[in-house]
Amino acid sequence: MEDGKTTAFAGGASQRSRSVESFKVMDVLERANELQSQGRDVLHCEVGQPESGAPATVAAAAVEALTGPPRQVMGYTDAFGLLQLRENIRQHYLKKYDGLSSEDIDTSRIVVTTGSSGGFLLTFTACFDTGDTVAIASSGYPCYRNILGALGCELANVGINNEFKITATELKEEIERRREMGEKSIKGLILSSPSNPTGSMLTPDELKGLCQLCDEESIRFISDEIYHGISYGKEEATALAYSKNAIVINSFSKYYSMSGWRLGWMVIPKDLIDPINCLQQNMFINAPTISQTAALKCWDKETIAELEKHVEKYRASRSIILDELSAFSELDPANIAPADGGFYVYVDLGENNVAPGLGSVAMCKALLEEENVAFTPGNDFEDPSGNLGDRRFRISYAGGIETAKRAMERFYKFWPTWMERVQAAR
Ligand SMILES: Cc1ncc(COP(=O)(O)O)c(C=O)c1O
Repeated sequence: MEDGKTTAFAGGASQRSRSVESFKVMDVLERANELQSQGRDVLHCEVGQPESGAPATVAAAAVEALTGPPRQVMGYTDAFGLLQLRENIRQHYLKKYDGLSSEDIDTSRIVVTTGSSGGFLLTFTACFDTGDTVAIASSGYPCYRNILGALGCELANVGINNEFKITATELKEEIERRREMGEKSIKGLILSSPSNPTGSMLTPDELKGLCQLCDEESIRFISDEIYHGISYGKEEATALAYSKNAIVINSFSKYYSMSGWRLGWMVIPKDLIDPINCLQQNMFINAPTISQTAALKCWDKETIAELEKHVEKYRASRSIILDELSAFSELDPANIAPADGGFYVYVDLGENNVAPGLGSVAMCKALLEEENVAFTPGNDFEDPSGNLGDRRFRISYAGGIETAKRAMERFYKFWPTWMERVQAAR
């Protein structure tokens, strides 16, 4: 203002936006970057983003499209995206997964989105109304909780089992518990396999069981398959093979190493084509055209060869972390999640390795401030009404082998000093 004074604007931010939690890993990243800018040698094991850039073929296609000749216009595409890209996605499914027929995956059901995050907004808005209850896994990806909350949905937190996943058994228990208690029934379920943060994967049978239960109970199953392509021996199955009602969400951010290109896709049931088309037209118009154009190269032989090398690096980093953790005698091996896919190791410190005020949140803070290693505390991923968020933490190994190795050396050095503090406070 001209007189240098400000008056509070009565309108303010919406209740809806004020009730949304921050994505805590971004808070950790901010502090880690701040320390780095002060000249500290920070090791980033917090964010789940590949250290590699987009595949060479994809980058070259983007340059060519922008510079020509001819220079492409990069105008809007159809709301559902370039037909050729959708056809390539269809071919990818038919090649990769067993048990899918051409009818299971028609291009009319494929929507190219602004990252999988754009897909969540479209899906949640198309499937749920304010006040509807949607089940999520606890531990699970925090943005499901936060976006659903912003849309006015209620959450049913389903605790993971001792294999760090939820299957039809856990979902059924929650359905029955709600029936007995007279609580609202569940309208949707979203989860990721491989999971962020636990790395656990549903077996094909477990996925089938969940799809069947959801269909029987009229629960819309949203299968986040963003980490497909990054797994270490277990079979990857898609919900498309087991349900005509499930929504499958995927992205170019992880396996394809294109996180900032903001590109993803969904395969949606027939009954949602019109509503989602309408929502996409209004909310996003279309996913970024330059990214769509370049992504046409994603399944070229050369591209896949480059991407498979990244997976080998993840595999090596994963082994380093799991091997190192096995030397922490205070940690119970049963409290370390299986890390079957994705690029995370999730650890529960266990009841004996925490003290009041000295849980995983304080530990991650101290590790960052004292040793310049950024891990993510579990409070991003857990049901906020419980205490597991302050017992668990996540190590991302997307940042390369050297980072994983050096981070674990520093963590190993830090650990006894942390344990002394915890023991003294117990
Ligand atoms: C399970 C899961 N789903 C979705 C996303 C968001 O990805 P995108 O970049 O496709 O929006 C992430 C990002 O970390 C994730 O871990």
